[in-house]
Amino acid sequence: MVELYDITKWNVKEWINTTGTREKCFIENPVDSKLYFYKMSIEKYPSEFWSEIIASKIGKELKFDIVDYNIAIHKNTIGCLCESMIDQQTQELDHGINIIKNAFPGFVVTERPEISFHQIEKALEKYRGYIQKFIDVMVFDALIGNQDRHSENWAIIRSLDINNKEFNKQRLLKYLKGIYKKFGLKLKNVPFKKFIIRHMDELSLVDYEFSPIYDSGSSLGREITEISIPEYLSDENKMKKYIKNGKSDIRWENKRVKHFELLNFLKKSYPEQLISTAQKVINQYNSDRMKDLIFNIDKKLPANFGESSLSLPRKELIFKLIDLRIQTLKELIS
Ligand SMILES: Nc1ncnc2c1ncn2[C@@H]1O[C@H](COP(=O)(O)OP(=O)(O)OP(=O)(O)O)[C@@H](O)[C@H]1O
Ligand SMILES: [Mg+2]
Repeated sequence: MVELYDITKWNVKEWINTTGTREKCFIENPVDSKLYFYKMSIEKYPSEFWSEIIASKIGKELKFDIVDYNIAIHKNTIGCLCESMIDQQTQELDHGINIIKNAFPGFVVTERPEISFHQIEKALEKYRGYIQKFIDVMVFDALIGNQDRHSENWAIIRSLDINNKEFNKQRLLKYLKGIYKKFGLKLKNVPFKKFIIRHMDELSLVDYEFSPIYDSGSSLGREITEISIPEYLSDENKMKKYIKNGKSDIRWENKRVKHFELLNFLKKSYPEQLISTAQKVINQYNSDRMKDLIFNIDKKLPANFGESSLSLPRKELIFKLIDLRIQTLKELIS
């Protein structure tokens, strides 16, 4: 299930180093010219690339729309590799932060802006049905305990779609008519034409889709040191407390909230959407399969990278974290 790629001889397109310690690059497979994204761990958390890979495989197992990450070796380094989500000629990623900026004129982008679910809700209003996609991400993040869903870690893929311009226009017009009808009064007397023009211009030339989930590596207990794992394994209460206290990066109103608190709020605001995703995940979950997946994740690791393997206690920890979070999700919707 997990693949291993030796990308030493692939063509590096562009090294990116935004955090100072985490190297990443876009790299091309010379055989089929496909573009990939390679990412090493940050020094502080050497096993982080595993969290990305495991989160991705867990996501796939539970049928989330998620980027597939596998193991890659580049010279003497190891990291995770995924295919590019976009065709660089015709598509671009529009990060959440940009979508929010557009929805809130005057919004000031700081280094780490605090974003609430309500801001995202408003920003996604003009994208049909995407709130469901975002709720799916929130459920996934609660399951893996992701602490880093900042607004560059979710996006919309925009494709230049000249051929379908007329079709997109009609589709959008129909959707905007519905929105206007529903919220017309709240739009403070914005004339219909003005409302339509404001939203049509940008969207009718492009097609767009919510991107698959990516960058989920700050999760699965990656910050729990090897030495303290046994304390968690021998004390279920400690583990439960850890899960209960895990915080989401997405605020509720202007407060930082815990993952399952956020899901609880969503259950009230979006009961159908939240419950349908949670129920699908619960139906799909099989603890034996999950255990198998986690315990065999590093099977293809070459012997000379042995020090990068995952210890048995860490695998056990990751499995227990998932298993308990699934239980918590069950309780939440029961
Ligand atoms: N598969 C992909 N296809 C296209 N672009 C990608 C892909 N993966 C990542 N990117 C781009 O590279 C950026 C950085 O990637 P990613 O978020 O995985 O790295 P990171 O260093 O972990 O980020 P962070 O600063 O959030 O920790 C993304 O925000 C996105 O713009
Ligand atoms: Mg990122």
